[in-house]
Amino acid sequence: MNDLSLTRDGQIYEEPLIFEKSRDGRDGFSLPQDDLELPLEIDPAYLRGDDLHLPEVSEIDIVRHFTRLSTWNYAIDLNLYPLGSCTMKYNPRINEEIAALPQFTEKHPDLPEIYAQNFIKIYYELSECLKALTDMPGITLQPAAGAHGELTGLFMVRRYFKTRGETRNIVLVPDSAHGTNPATCTLAGLQIKELKSTEDGLLDMEVLRQNLGPDVAALMITNPNTLGVFEKNISEIAHILHDNGSLLYMDGANYNAIVGKVSLGKMGVDISHLNLHKTFSTPHGGGGPGGAAVVVSDKLTSFLPGPLPVRREDGSYGWSFPEASIGRVKAGPGHSGVSLRALTYIYSYGNEIHKVAESAVLNANIIRKQLEKHFQIASGLNTMHEAVFSDAMQKKTGLDTLNLAKTLIDYGYHPPTVFFPLNVHGAMMIEPTESESPETLDHFCQVMIQIAERMEKQDNSMKESPRRAFVGRIDETGAARQPTLNYFTKKTDL
Ligand SMILES: Cc1ncc(COP(=O)(O)O)c(C=O)c1O
Repeated sequence: MNDLSLTRDGQIYEEPLIFEKSRDGRDGFSLPQDDLELPLEIDPAYLRGDDLHLPEVSEIDIVRHFTRLSTWNYAIDLNLYPLGSCTMKYNPRINEEIAALPQFTEKHPDLPEIYAQNFIKIYYELSECLKALTDMPGITLQPAAGAHGELTGLFMVRRYFKTRGETRNIVLVPDSAHGTNPATCTLAGLQIKELKSTEDGLLDMEVLRQNLGPDVAALMITNPNTLGVFEKNISEIAHILHDNGSLLYMDGANYNAIVGKVSLGKMGVDISHLNLHKTFSTPHGGGGPGGAAVVVSDKLTSFLPGPLPVRREDGSYGWSFPEASIGRVKAGPGHSGVSLRALTYIYSYGNEIHKVAESAVLNANIIRKQLEKHFQIASGLNTMHEAVFSDAMQKKTGLDTLNLAKTLIDYGYHPPTVFFPLNVHGAMMIEPTESESPETLDHFCQVMIQIAERMEKQDNSMKESPRRAFVGRIDETGAARQPTLNYFTKKTDL
């Protein structure tokens, strides 16, 4: 390999399943001798007749097992994680310290109000902070993630029109939208109409006007959009929709680009979900945990899911349910760990929270400037928090975005998001976030440029990458079509 590679050799451990390491009678705990003589009268019907079949492993082997497995993972604590749209930002350690306080870990937010004052206060203060930041009058913290926030928002859209006695079931969605947008519309029982974007990746105002009608419930638009571009016509878009009696849903997954800088209220937004695990730093990937805040305009506050945190006149905290609430969208009031981290993150920045957006945008532009001579930038407009390129310049080489992504792994980097948004050919969506230093960004760009030069030279060895990862190039189609889901089946197959 070459000097830009960050990968180490020789210390990647093969690791069997914990069950394969099990030896009868070996254990990883030592409890004091039980000196209680309890009468043990359990109905035999409730007694287990068979062994538990748990692995029997010593403490050090358990520690090594999980530590070794963790070395197979890529993490933000290891290196830049440029996965566009996902906002893999650094999770400050203070977040973990606060979330680990016994006042929170040893209580449950669903305790009777009197015992859960500290928790309700967290939900209340986070709600107030986010209302102030977005300039929106209503909020819920209940949804478990962005897509769940979308569903919550669309349920409110449906309830709004039902209350008004209107039948509107169309949601307009631009072709650059994240896959969850159309999926959520379908799940909410609404129909989508896709809108083609302009060359520069903005919503086409003419196309919007042509597709409006009395059956249009809402437009669902991401801003900044998935090309990393700010929808500069957003206020006009809101006016056009409102004149048609429709609502404006702004997918706020990219809110980290504008936090503390703009007012969603003044833009005319009616509903927006903010991915707390992205903009407000809870670590995510690998399935969670996540959390979303859904902010709404006056038109929708009475439909918010409950319970909502309130501060009473005597200074105590409690829960309330809006009069025409769509009900609960989750058992609890929202993921407490995510809310705690989000509030800690906001308070750590205080009045300087806008610097998050400024640094995120600056870092994406450092990347754009260095790479735009080597890769085709997807939009000629200003780059916000992520730089999206296509593989148009590499078309003649026979090597494409997939080869680039796999080769990056050999240099010690997680690949960016690829082949999304769908309206950009061979898209590479690079989101550095605000956390990274200029040195890290420069190194990443040098690696990208080196790979671009290898592509130019038609270096077909890239087709075998990754060669320095724990698992090499896998047959992704085969894995999706004929997945081997059982480890033991795989063993016998071999
Ligand atoms: C633009 C956009 N919308 C919605 C979502 C869905 O959010 P979540 O993954 O939290 O469900 C994402 C996630 O990446 C996104 O990038």
